[in-house]
Amino acid sequence: MVATKRDPSTLSNYASWLTKHTTATFTIDFDKQSLKGRVDYDILSRSQGEREIVLDTSYLDIASISIGGSEAKWELKDRSEPLGSPLHISVPEGVAEGDVLKLSIELQTTKHCTALQWLTPAQTSNKKHPYMFSQCQAIHARSLFPCQDTPDVKSTYTFNITSPLTVIASGVLTTETLNKDDVTTTYIFEQKVPIPAYLFALASGDIATARIGSRSKVATGPEELHDAKWELERDIEKFIEIAEKLVFPYRWGEYNVLVLPPSFPYGGMENPVYTFATPTLISGDRQNVDVIAHELAHSWSGNLVTSCSWEHFWLNEGWTIYLERRIGAALHGEPERDFSAIIGWKALEDSINQYGADHEYTKLIPNLQDGVDPDDAFSTVPYEKGFHFLYYLEKLVGRDSFDKFIPHYFTKYAEKSLDSFEFKETFLSFFNGLGDEEIKKKVAGIDWEGRFYTPGLPPKPEFDTTYADQCYALAEKWKDPSFTPSPEDIASFSGNQKLVVLEAIQNFESPLSADRARLLGSTYDLVSSKNVDLKAAYYRVALAAKDTSSYQGVADLLGRVGRMKFVRPLSRALNKVDRELALATFERNKGFYHPICRAMVAKDLGVEL
Ligand code: BES
Ligand code: ZN
Repeated sequence: MVATKRDPSTLSNYASWLTKHTTATFTIDFDKQSLKGRVDYDILSRSQGEREIVLDTSYLDIASISIGGSEAKWELKDRSEPLGSPLHISVPEGVAEGDVLKLSIELQTTKHCTALQWLTPAQTSNKKHPYMFSQCQAIHARSLFPCQDTPDVKSTYTFNITSPLTVIASGVLTTETLNKDDVTTTYIFEQKVPIPAYLFALASGDIATARIGSRSKVATGPEELHDAKWELERDIEKFIEIAEKLVFPYRWGEYNVLVLPPSFPYGGMENPVYTFATPTLISGDRQNVDVIAHELAHSWSGNLVTSCSWEHFWLNEGWTIYLERRIGAALHGEPERDFSAIIGWKALEDSINQYGADHEYTKLIPNLQDGVDPDDAFSTVPYEKGFHFLYYLEKLVGRDSFDKFIPHYFTKYAEKSLDSFEFKETFLSFFNGLGDEEIKKKVAGIDWEGRFYTPGLPPKPEFDTTYADQCYALAEKWKDPSFTPSPEDIASFSGNQKLVVLEAIQNFESPLSADRARLLGSTYDLVSSKNVDLKAAYYRVALAAKDTSSYQGVADLLGRVGRMKFVRPLSRALNKVDRELALATFERNKGFYHPICRAMVAKDLGVEL
């Protein structure tokens, strides 16, 4: 089969070449804040007569390139935003389709690298050692090493990493050898399941580990280990077992979690073998473990079965939200799943309102041609519109038959990448093949075109509103300025229920008065909460109420967490009520934020970096 290039976010000519195996040999240099070393590739020729290999790069310092041991001719072409500088490598004559070339590139990362954050000892919690971690999704792997930086290409990996501090990578650790210098250790990891470049991950620092399940460990700073273990050990193995029943056995060996320093810009990142997670999950109440169910679910949706480009990203995130909510339902019942779906629907409405209902990025399959930065198109749309599409399909065909489709689909595309049209074809042939006339009729009525390409909200489903109703009823009471609240109001609520109450109040047409907002915070004990989700939601109410006594608390929080989910909305909301403070707060904290977060907040506030 002749491959076609269906990912617009790569400059590589991957239709002609396929990376089969990648060996990354790097030394982590904390002083220079750089990775230095060599990457070796087994590259398969999939066409006849292509004379060049083109790889993605971004701000890399390349020293030399060889093919089959002989020096190769190469050229780094001009940079264009946001895709970077394509690296053109000349290939010797006589290479035929099916041949595998041994390509080798010596390089180091530069200070413009967008995939890495380096922390000085002073920026870490115990202030003893430096720390570094990577975040490659969506298109930052190219700033670590030249690669076919597209989810449409999957390679197996060997990581050969030397560091003076503990190293974690997205592979299984096989050996660990102290070097002759008595200072550095070389860690070797193998990733035998082929993965896209965006799942390449590294972290190194003062990291300790503890067991949290029969095939799981948690890794984090030594002082944080005890709390992190407590937060996760009750649920992790249960999550894995439920997911295995829904799909099929877990294929990656271990499932571990690395809890990062507070500047980690996401809630979680599904790096294989080691999910990377924000420390805000460790809230002391086990109320945020659904993020781990989500990242674990990516072990099937995303990591094993992968969307072939960022245009079809819903195949990763929509499916993952679907599986995450099925895990939640298996543990806490169906109403819990619908409650979560209602929260998701609300988030979808918010995103769509923010973009405008006919915006390209509100489509299930957005057009990302012509140099769109996938980070800019990122929103809850692929998550929730994707989830709601699957939820609709499940209701249409019935839970029992949908549950048979799940393993069929994940088996068919395991270790592959696909687009939405292949999903459609697989779905239709599965359900048409069941021999059930009624189901056949139902699936014939699916408006695929409309579901894929209509911007704005999809048709709204019916939800079980048991849990949500309790939240809306309480929020409603707050509309009356004479309502006397008590801690009892929320005593039986889950963390998510409290969040829904706060969001509903924040969305009142006329905001609470500053006094009432303060009363809300003190009665429900929100300001002192260790749960940052709750605290941030409360601050949104306080800012809408223009409660000036809360502004400093907001500014402080913005200096303690770098998770974009909190930093971006809080910075924007603070900017609305006190631009001067918002700008000063950003100025003070921008060195603490991850490069991706820093760039996003600068855009949000309309300031140059
Ligand atoms: N893969 C995403 C994070 C991501 C997406 C990073 C796009 C870079 C680009 C991860 O699985 C995720 O969705 N995390 C969520 C948590 C989840 C419970 C919705 C997050 O970070 O908030
Ligand atoms: Zn996800």
